[in-house]
Amino acid sequence: MANILIVDDDSMLAEMLASHLTRANHRVEIAASLTVGINRARDDAFDVIFLDVQFPEGSGLDAFSHFSEVTSQPEIIIMTGCGDPDGAKKAIQLGAWSYLEKPHVLRDLLLPLTRALQYREEKKKITVVPVALKRNTIIGKSPLMLHCLDQLAKAASSDASVLVTGETGTGKEIFARAIHDNSNRSQQAFVVVDCASLPENLIESTLFGHVRGAFTGADRTTTGLIKMAHGGTLFLDEIGELPEKIQKTFLRVLQEHQYRPIGGVKEEYSDFRVIAATNRNLDQAAAAGTFRPDMLFRLRSFSLHLPPLRERKEDIRLLTRHFLDRLCDRLKIAYKGIADEFFEYLMAHEWPGNVRELQQTLEQVFANAVHHPTLFAYHLPERIRIYKTLERIQPNPAKTPISDDRPILSALPPWKDFKTEVEKAYLQQLLDCAEGSIMEACRISGLSRARLYQLVNLHGTAVIKP
Ligand SMILES: Nc1ncnc2c1ncn2[C@@H]1O[C@H](COP(=O)(O)OP(=O)(O)OP(=O)(O)O)[C@@H](O)[C@H]1O
Ligand SMILES: [Mg+2]
Repeated sequence: MANILIVDDDSMLAEMLASHLTRANHRVEIAASLTVGINRARDDAFDVIFLDVQFPEGSGLDAFSHFSEVTSQPEIIIMTGCGDPDGAKKAIQLGAWSYLEKPHVLRDLLLPLTRALQYREEKKKITVVPVALKRNTIIGKSPLMLHCLDQLAKAASSDASVLVTGETGTGKEIFARAIHDNSNRSQQAFVVVDCASLPENLIESTLFGHVRGAFTGADRTTTGLIKMAHGGTLFLDEIGELPEKIQKTFLRVLQEHQYRPIGGVKEEYSDFRVIAATNRNLDQAAAAGTFRPDMLFRLRSFSLHLPPLRERKEDIRLLTRHFLDRLCDRLKIAYKGIADEFFEYLMAHEWPGNVRELQQTLEQVFANAVHHPTLFAYHLPERIRIYKTLERIQPNPAKTPISDDRPILSALPPWKDFKTEVEKAYLQQLLDCAEGSIMEACRISGLSRARLYQLVNLHGTAVIKP
């Protein structure tokens, strides 16, 4: 039995069609106008919608997306009174299941309807990637990020445990939340357990709860985090820090979903889904004996690795725009212009603290430049400006790890030459940013006027703009 909506202002035909479909054991409803139809389609989960084209309010084809984009994603069969090849083409292009001409609708509807219902049945069996993934505030469209979003969608459509890995600040927590928000547990709680900060003597009581009088100071019964996650998601953050002592007890909870509150007499059940996150290499920890391999196996039914920001620098521009615009929104001020050079500096940086470091850097920049309508490179913190300056002299020094087997010593210039080069490059940069204004250059650099003149003289014409 299918749930069918007929949207047609021709009441006679609609009634006829409805009784035909009801006899075939379907549940049928009629909407006599586009507006009513759209509202009904939004409010109820229809499998198939028979949609007329001509309404006094407008064309059914123009309103097509209002019907197709509702949560139940119904199959839509278009009906029209007059043969119209262009309308038929448009309907199919829009994604209609089929196109029927009204005079023959009763005769012709059976086959497309049966096929549409068959197709829906098969669609239900496939683990679907949600078409409209709720990204929350996840920004980025680099190929690596798109792959992560694809993984996110897959994880959300299953109920398997997920292990999210990645360096600090790569977005493990916002991805975990987005998995929950896109899953069918989204209406229930998302409970965060910070395994790194669980006080050792209170771990069990925090997780499992306790009954009144279970220990000294337990003057009332409390609910543990595991129970709070019933029906929802339990997010085990920094799972690599979970003390070895508790891993065994916890493994049993993960396997059986049963636990006993401290001081309680009977076991309780909680239907939670686990998402865990870590920036540690748990395979290494398991090999070293500090993390239980069976626990790792249980947690990693599905794994999602978030790449560091330096491997997806294409996302820096979008992230920067996003963070700065949100800061402007907060203060209700106009969005700021951003000089290209500002981005170049951000792109040159390696971002060991990843997106969090970028976000914090921009907050700092914003606070210092809140009244400036445009952000320039000189608004950036010194460590980022120096980094780029050094890169000009020696191609990306931080990317060149010093390892014992490389003849690095012979590649290094003498200290004096290096220092001179850095100073020269810095001064050049400084005067560019200050647009030749000595006062502004002193302000940005923190150098005294006398020292600045001294340096300019020392490096001669190299730093004076033509
Ligand atoms: N792709 C992204 N788009 C927008 N904001 C992001 C993105 N990735 C991370 N962030 C933001 O960066 C900050 C750090 O993210 P999050 O807390 O999820 O990282 P984490 O991987 O859990 O870090 P840690 O390992 O240090 O706990 C948060 O403010 C988050 O909103
Ligand atoms: Mg985190």
